[in-house]
Amino acid sequence: MKFAVTGGAGFVGSYLVKRLIKENHDVIVIDNLYRGKLENLKEVFDKIQFQKIDIRDFDSMRNIIKNTDGVFHEAALTDVQESFTKQDEYVDVNVKGTENVFKIAREFGTKIIYASSSSVYGNPEKTPIAEDSKRTPINPYGNTKLEDEFLAEKYVENGVSIIGLRYFNIYGKGQTGSYAGVITKFINNLKEKRQPVIFGNGEQKRDFIFVEDVARANIAAMKSNVKNGFFNVGTGMVTSIKQLADQMIELSGLELEPKYEKPLVGDVFTSQADTTLTKKLLNWEYQTELSDGLKIFFSL
Ligand SMILES: NC(=O)c1ccc[n+]([C@@H]2O[C@H](COP(=O)([O-])OP(=O)(O)OC[C@H]3O[C@@H](n4cnc5c(N)ncnc54)[C@H](O)[C@@H]3O)[C@@H](O)[C@H]2O)c1
Repeated sequence: MKFAVTGGAGFVGSYLVKRLIKENHDVIVIDNLYRGKLENLKEVFDKIQFQKIDIRDFDSMRNIIKNTDGVFHEAALTDVQESFTKQDEYVDVNVKGTENVFKIAREFGTKIIYASSSSVYGNPEKTPIAEDSKRTPINPYGNTKLEDEFLAEKYVENGVSIIGLRYFNIYGKGQTGSYAGVITKFINNLKEKRQPVIFGNGEQKRDFIFVEDVARANIAAMKSNVKNGFFNVGTGMVTSIKQLADQMIELSGLELEPKYEKPLVGDVFTSQADTTLTKKLLNWEYQTELSDGLKIFFSL
């Protein structure tokens, strides 16, 4: 089949593209390379079609999507801290860009699997968090992801097939720069024999999911008979940031203690997925334990 992957040069998108190629699909990657890198796609570059396009460019997007069997929409601005200072830009890319994808899908009957986020939940009333929990994001990035969900609901009412995957904390090689997740930041420090830095007391808990498992979830959603809905993509397990730092220091073989700094604004306290619905309807569950994923990451 022929699929488009927006944000396909980014972290999650590039793993997804490689998996689709492995499954012998035709893949068109759409990315403006704002944060993505062609380097992420080097193993498959001769097998894909790459289009340097901004998702806000409706006509160019339409020309590509009209000839596909489905779209995986991963492109977005993804840095929570940056979203406080660049709110308009975040709305522009994450909301207007996403509406372009939905609008084009409505015209051509294209199935859309798109990246929502556990950030739509904010600080949940109870954990693990089920999909029908209250959506109260606590930062501008999360607000854009919630706006996308409202849009998805509206387009679904018009008969469009849209599945939103609410990713929890994804890790794996390839996340770069200031917006990288905590595991990448810890690895970067440890590789330079520096202490991992914990913001706050380290008791905040996260559900860490390996990037390859996220790529599989996307394909499972596309192949499923499910037409729409929101689904958690996590492991259902939690690890505190302090436990994570200790585990990673041990793996590194270094004699270090984590360094503690002031808590971050807009940081969620506990994030843990209830994955019952995803298992049942999308027939997907995680395969990689955190301890194994960390070993893989360390070895790369
Ligand atoms: N990484 C996580 O832990 C996580 C968690 C929850 C949700 N998500 C969501 O998953 C998706 C992928 O995230 P990621 O971690 O791979 O981020 P990423 O920044 O590595 O990838 C995003 C890609 O989108 C591209 N992009 C940005 N603006 C664009 C535009 N206007 N037009 C075209 N391309 C554009 C970037 O160049 C980049 O390649 C995002 O929608 C993100 O919000 C990620």
